[in-house]
Amino acid sequence: MDLKNSLLQVGQDHLLENIDSLSEAERLQLEKEIASQDFHLLNQLFKEHSSKPIISTDDEILPLTFDLAENNIKQDMWEETGFLLLEQGQVAAFLVAGGQGSRLGFEGPKGAYDIGLPSGKSLFQIQAERISNLSARAGHPIPWCIMTSPLNHEDTITHFEDHHFFGLPRDSIRFFSQGTMCALDPNGKAIKSSKEHLALVPDGNGGCFRALAQSGTLAWLIEKGVRYVFLYSVDNVLVKVADPAFVGALASDGRALSSSKVVRKKHPQEKVGVFVIKNKKPSVIEYSDLPEDLRSETYPDGSPLYDGANIAIHLFRIDALKKLQNTPLPWHSAKKTVFGVNNAWKFEQFLFDAFPLLGSMTLYGVSREDEFAPVKNADGDDSPKSARVMLGSLHKYWLERAGVSVDPRKLYEISPTISYSGESLSQTVFDRELGKNILAFDP
Ligand code: UTP
Repeated sequence: MDLKNSLLQVGQDHLLENIDSLSEAERLQLEKEIASQDFHLLNQLFKEHSSKPIISTDDEILPLTFDLAENNIKQDMWEETGFLLLEQGQVAAFLVAGGQGSRLGFEGPKGAYDIGLPSGKSLFQIQAERISNLSARAGHPIPWCIMTSPLNHEDTITHFEDHHFFGLPRDSIRFFSQGTMCALDPNGKAIKSSKEHLALVPDGNGGCFRALAQSGTLAWLIEKGVRYVFLYSVDNVLVKVADPAFVGALASDGRALSSSKVVRKKHPQEKVGVFVIKNKKPSVIEYSDLPEDLRSETYPDGSPLYDGANIAIHLFRIDALKKLQNTPLPWHSAKKTVFGVNNAWKFEQFLFDAFPLLGSMTLYGVSREDEFAPVKNADGDDSPKSARVMLGSLHKYWLERAGVSVDPRKLYEISPTISYSGESLSQTVFDRELGKNILAFDP
């Protein structure tokens, strides 16, 4: 069937209006973008999403409890196990960096953003150096999979090229782009952003499982013998990429297919998603979808009952990723202004919807001060400034813990090239590295 007829069948033939005025190259581009879209699915989503509640009164929702991992007597054993798996090349890192970072308002890929630390390092560089530190200690490169979107793919690769891949072996990094979904106008018609382009937006971080498989990266990991994949977001400046203890904890659990790090909610109204048991399956419910009565429910000591905050740090067994490549996640919708069209429909998938599909997971509690300082907004909470202060305070604490006399008025930035999570520090190291790999700054 020709393109015109197939678009007629799905009610989207307006996309070919004025096609005769396009140059050959423009026409080919438009046809390519049209071919990349599943208009049957888009039409179906448009019909279904007009008024569907996410949580219904029939759903059974219970808290999913967790303990702080650092209090567990097995912590040292987990760390040893994790290092052994790193040494054997069984652990990879998977960064989802296809988002648009619209709240931060930065033009380039969010990972290239410099949060204003004295070193001027970008988020990508900080992560790369943590990977490099662990790889050197394990004596084995850690494969690093980086998912971009068509909107930032080229710029991401250019940033890495300009920085010589931060010293990591080039063949240990694989970049691939996630899929897109065309935005629809309020009447369900596909929007064009220009005469030869559709209004394509990234299909959400849940597109990562499909993109990992379709790009051949899952096969690449399997071929390398990888069995554990550390999956994380681009914007947490404290992320302990491929954390050995976290890996060891999942590996020591005979049952779970995945594990997620959680922090305790600051207070019941904090705007974060929480882990729950929904209809007997582990799930994440977003802040705005958790009914108010559950949100404010507390234990007798006043702490929130639903307090396992999702900080987007997960670990998957490779078998889980094999399963997820062919298991469709649900779609979420949002109404936004897209290319000047108000109330346009955007559809995306969320990676946390994988957990009910996998069925068995564990939670690994960590302290917010140690592991979670996201850069979401330009100012205020979760901003470059708050992330900078959290990193500076944590690194200062590492120095104090190592017996170093620090300047009480300053914060410190310690390069991940000399310490991954506070190890290998002393007064001698401090005296030698101050002004080089240890930098002081004002709060
Ligand atoms: P966020 O939900 O914080 O979105 O993404 P964002 O795009 O970074 O920022 P805003 O909402 O536009 O301000 C959480 C993680 O998921 C990735 C992001 O890159 C980030 O690492 N993500 C998000 C994708 O990889 N693809 C997407 O389609 C959306």
